Formats: sequence, C-alpha cells, structure tokens
Amino acid sequence: MDSSKKDDVSRRNFLSTTLMGVGLVASYGVTTFYAANFIAPEDKKKIYRSLYVAPEKSVPVGKSIDFEDLKGRKIAITNTGDGFKALSTSCTHLGCQVHWENEKNAFYCPCHEGYFDSDGNVTKGPPPAPLAKYDVEIIDGNIFVKVEEVYNAIS
Ligand code: FES
Repeated sequence: MDSSKKDDVSRRNFLSTTLMGVGLVASYGVTTFYAANFIAPEDKKKIYRSLYVAPEKSVPVGKSIDFEDLKGRKIAITNTGDGFKALSTSCTHLGCQVHWENEKNAFYCPCHEGYFDSDGNVTKGPPPAPLAKYDVEIIDGNIFVKVEEVYNAIS
C-alpha cells in the first residue's frame, strides 16, 4: 500500500471519528438540557403590569377599596395613614375574605378570628402565612397597583 493512500484513510478515519464524537456530545447535551428542564422546570420569569386603580384622594385615611387583579383575585387597597397598601383579601388560613378595620388598625378575617397588620403579617389567630402583597405606585395623584400579567393560553 502506498503511503499517500494510507494517510488518506487515516485522515478519513480521524474526521469521521471526530464528527461522531461531536454529534454524540451534542446529542447528550440536548438530552441533558431537556431532562433537567423536565425534572426541575425553570421558573418562568413573571411579567408585571401597572393597573390604574383610582385617584389618591378618593381613598382617605382609614378607608379601603376593593380591586381585582388580571386573574380576578380580590385586592384591598387601603390608606392606612402610612401610605397605601395593596394586599390580597384571601385569608391564608382557609381562604375567607379579610377586610380592613380602621379602629383595630388591622385586617380582620371573621371566619376564625384571624388578624393581620397593615403590612399583611399575621398578628393573631390561625392564619399560617401573611397576606399576599402587591406593589403600589402613586403617579400624579393616582393609585396604580402592579399585578402579574396574564398570558393567552395559545401564546
Ligand atoms: S379562614 Fe381566615 S382565619 Fe380561618
């Protein structure tokens, strides 16, 4: 066998082995990526939108107005005197509706005597966790609340 033909064969072997190795590594990489996403799905990044609620002056100190986020969940927007707070009205115990009681300076759940402070933290009763909070912005004398964007199921 002449040496140029021998070099040609070994070059061909080298190239095919290298390409096969690259293909194997690539397929293992893709498989590992999908397997990891299946086992521990990446937390999808949430997108928020600011929704107009009402003029600031329409909610005097001690008053609260109800609002709904884009998923229809009720939010109490309350002027506690320390600013506006936006908290879910669903009690973290069994889901009853809480409301602000100005004389008690607290959110109150009548179902099982649950109390939350103006930041939504549990102060008394059986609720196991604070009320869900929403960010509030005051822009040009108007109240806006940041809520999670709702996606179309098709998109
Ligand atoms: S549901 Fe609110 S305290 Fe039980």
